[in-house]
Amino acid sequence: MNIRPYRAADRDAVIALWQACGLTRPWNDPAGDIAFCTGRPESTILVGEAQDGGSLIATVMVGHDGHRGWLYYLGVDPAAQKAGHGRAMVAAAESWLAARGVPKVMLMVRPENDRVRAFYAALGYIVEERLIFSRRLDGK
Ligand SMILES: CC(C)(COP(=O)(O)OP(=O)(O)OC[C@H]1O[C@@H](n2cnc3c(N)ncnc32)[C@H](O)[C@@H]1OP(=O)(O)O)[C@@H](O)C(=O)NCCC(=O)NCCS
Repeated sequence: MNIRPYRAADRDAVIALWQACGLTRPWNDPAGDIAFCTGRPESTILVGEAQDGGSLIATVMVGHDGHRGWLYYLGVDPAAQKAGHGRAMVAAAESWLAARGVPKVMLMVRPENDRVRAFYAALGYIVEERLIFSRRLDGK
């Protein structure tokens, strides 16, 4: 797999991959999320292309808020899972953050999502006992 930054021509393939991976939610607009993330220095989407044919098989959204780094939309094409691609995408996102001086990376997982918890545990991530407070700013 070849990992590179998102290009505008990737948009439909990225959204299709997110849908195939079950990453989209009715209350999130994937095209809007892509537009908001890309084209600014603090965030990007990294995409993984299959070496045979170049189809898009993995993504991760990565960015920082001036303090911590965050991961979103990590997904590997279901047909290409369990081959180390998820691990490679997280490593690429970590390198992207480290190159910008970000000292720590964080992400959110639903507590009942045992599969993804096991994945991140295998990568050396730990659960931090914190509550996430939030409030919408867009009136939704
Ligand atoms: C989570 C996901 C990205 C993992 O990608 P992947 O390419 O299958 O993972 P890898 O092959 O790189 O696995 C890396 C390690 O995690 C472990 N792992 C992966 N899936 C696992 C599972 N379901 N249960 C236990 N361990 C798992 C692997 O055993 C491997 O460990 P090892 O290298 O020590 O053997 C992929 O399953 C996916 O896209 N899921 C759907 C989308 C999703 O839920 N994304 C996360 C949103 S929070």
